[in-house]
Amino acid sequence: MKQTIKEGDFVDTLWMNKDNYSQAMKYLKNGEVVAFPTETVYGLGADATNEKAVQKIFKAKGRPSDNPLIVHVASIEQAKHYVKDWPKKADQLAQHFWPGPLTIILYKKGPLAKTVTAELNTVGIRIPDHPIAKQIIEESGLPLAAPSANSSGKPSPTSAIHVKQDLDGKIAGIVDGGETGVGLESTVLDLTDPDTPVILRPGGISKDQLEAIIGSVKLDAHLVKEEEKPKSPGMKYTHYSPKEPVWIVEKNWDYAINQMKKKGEKVGILASDEIIQQYSGEEIIAFSLGKRARPEMASHLLYKGLRAFEPTEATVILAEAYPKKGIGEAYMNRLEKAAGNKKINV
Ligand code: TXA
Ligand code: MG
Repeated sequence: MKQTIKEGDFVDTLWMNKDNYSQAMKYLKNGEVVAFPTETVYGLGADATNEKAVQKIFKAKGRPSDNPLIVHVASIEQAKHYVKDWPKKADQLAQHFWPGPLTIILYKKGPLAKTVTAELNTVGIRIPDHPIAKQIIEESGLPLAAPSANSSGKPSPTSAIHVKQDLDGKIAGIVDGGETGVGLESTVLDLTDPDTPVILRPGGISKDQLEAIIGSVKLDAHLVKEEEKPKSPGMKYTHYSPKEPVWIVEKNWDYAINQMKKKGEKVGILASDEIIQQYSGEEIIAFSLGKRARPEMASHLLYKGLRAFEPTEATVILAEAYPKKGIGEAYMNRLEKAAGNKKINV
């Protein structure tokens, strides 16, 4: 049978710019979903206290319902409305890193829609560091549930065009605020046991930065197996994957490229300037991640780069490994997921 498309499955998606997005606040107050920029990636926001609105996020993204959403607020005071305890370490971290790319998981309370937290008894909260996000939260007066504004499984959007590619016709509006800064999502820190803080997802704030403020922090962001019940449900899903298969290259680019060419693949390389320069004479499609010594630039460009090969002839993407230090930890975490951990390191 042919697929039937119901009326009501499609909406006109309003494109708004940074100088005029007052309609975004109206939509949000009316229970619609709107994409807007944050300093990490674009978020797909809805009123976190409105069950129907939150369900629209899951539907638009095709997101599994057991994967909870982060609640975005505008102040520490507002954050406290939605958590049972506010431990000293939460306060120290918030004072230091908010607004910014740190999500803190605590026991929840208050009128949040059940679906936001996928029925867990905890909630992830952060204050984003972006003037548009900040204004939207303040003016709507709402806590906003907002996952990254991509279709589930795709690389997160770092520009409004990426959001349009994935969600046009499925959401009420998109606010274009240019490219996002960090380029990778926030660090997710479990503080439900303040004696043992655990990083569930590395991100914009590194382990060292956290430890400088609250002492020892564990990193538990391994790739989760099928049968495992992860602490952070997001960890079990393949993620960030473009259409083309991705391989991580740790060394020996000559070998990696030749292997792929022998298989008849059209090779795309996502790598530093230093690597790309070595192959300038070859028939290769390249996207630069900037200078090798600047992992923050590679992080800023990773998702854009993963999406960039789609309209090209490339049938495979070879992507450069960076040291797992500082932001490099988050970069490698996302790249390993995009690649399903496939590596070439001979
Ligand atoms: O930078 C970001 O964090 C972006 C921007 C838009 O704020 N948002 C984002 O949301 O990346 P999302 O939904 O793509 O990722 C949220 C992650 C998921 O891995 C989810 O499982 C985890 O946070 N998470 C959310 N609430 C949680 C909770 N209560 N317990 C454990 N993990 C949680
Ligand atoms: Mg996401």
